[in-house]
Amino acid sequence: MTAKRLYIKTFGCQMNVHDSERIGGLLRNEGYRLTEKPEEADMIIVNTCSIREKSEQKGYSDLGRFAQLKRDKPGLILGMAGCVAQQEGAGVLKRFKGLDLVFGSSNIANVPRMIETITLRSRPVVMVEEPPGPPRTTPADRKDRVRAWVSIMEGCDRRCAFCVVPTTRGRERSRPSAEIVQETTHLAEAGYKEITLLGQTVNSYGKNLDEGVDFADLLARLDAVDGIVRIRFESPHPCDMTPKLIETMAGLTKVCEYLHLPLQSGSDAVLERMGRGYTLNDYRRIVARLRERIPGTALSTDIIVGFPGETGEDFDRTLDAVAEFEYDNVFYFNYSRRPNTPAAEFGDPVPPEVQEARFQRLSMLEKSLARKKNQALIGTVQEVLVEGRSKRDRDRHTGRTRSNKLVHFCGADEEIGRLVNLRIASAGPTCLEGIRPSPP
Ligand code: 5AD
Repeated sequence: MTAKRLYIKTFGCQMNVHDSERIGGLLRNEGYRLTEKPEEADMIIVNTCSIREKSEQKGYSDLGRFAQLKRDKPGLILGMAGCVAQQEGAGVLKRFKGLDLVFGSSNIANVPRMIETITLRSRPVVMVEEPPGPPRTTPADRKDRVRAWVSIMEGCDRRCAFCVVPTTRGRERSRPSAEIVQETTHLAEAGYKEITLLGQTVNSYGKNLDEGVDFADLLARLDAVDGIVRIRFESPHPCDMTPKLIETMAGLTKVCEYLHLPLQSGSDAVLERMGRGYTLNDYRRIVARLRERIPGTALSTDIIVGFPGETGEDFDRTLDAVAEFEYDNVFYFNYSRRPNTPAAEFGDPVPPEVQEARFQRLSMLEKSLARKKNQALIGTVQEVLVEGRSKRDRDRHTGRTRSNKLVHFCGADEEIGRLVNLRIASAGPTCLEGIRPSPP
């Protein structure tokens, strides 16, 4: 029997990308194989994102397109997963007549059962209730062979005023540590070299478990897994960057010298209205401790431009902070009003043209900082974990430094998954060029 074909379109964060791998893994057991072509699929799942309005709209537009395919192929199963599915629930069935399946991220483990119900009863199935208990461990169909994402928790208990995640991914639930260690061990046995631990506020791990294991303890346990050479995690919240965690990171050899630490704004007034729980000075202290204990660590951040009530002065503070912390990378987003969030009721919106002008200023600063940071590495020798062939030039290879910088170089397929030392020959704002260091 030929395998049934599954096409998954993914929007949004790494968590969503990994959720798609888990959906793929579960459906592989049901006889589905992934395809890159929606036209030849027997099942299409759009894994949606609602963090900003634009991402939400993109998901809807794709669903509309795929619903058209169903006209010529009535047996095609069309599903909607992810945060928009969770947010809208059964309501989306009215909007898209062709939908068979709607489920949120906490219901992924039930996908096989849902498919069975659709096939038996031929009517749409909606599952957006959060099941009790810790997140269920599922298989994952991972595309990469060197680096793997490992989800360690779901949901978020923080209430940042701008953020839709608490309503789309529910309360914070951590996976038992033994399951995470076991999954990592299996990944190492399968040849994976690097893991990235995922959670909405990844360093708050363990708070709702009875085990007495916190994020630092988990890192230490995973550091002991043979075969894994690098550990990363995303995204930590500044309020959970405890001195113990920084000490642990400094002491563990596999934990990479790179931290993505969302600041969101450099103005205390804005941070307060966002409900972030720290001031600029608190953040400053964390960065100082981090740089003292882990010299040379790379740092990146997220910034929201044009939060309600943000004044020109507030924004200048953000620019000052970005310059002060000398980020390696800044991800910046125009504020987008999201349903059921406190900030949706705030009023005092920043006019779009003002927001756009601020966005451009930040963009220029970001580019010059990133270039400067990358250029500082020219002439140094960096340990690079080889990932595969370069996307822009198939004759070359790429890998990443421990500080998470992408390096292009002349390599060989045999090197994929290995650590190589490369001298940095040149640098742009987004990547580096590496050459083999000359023998001493
Ligand atoms: N508007 C704009 N950006 C947002 N983010 C989260 N919610 C919003 C919103 N409503 C950004 C934050 C977060 C990143 C993942 O997305 O900077 O850290």
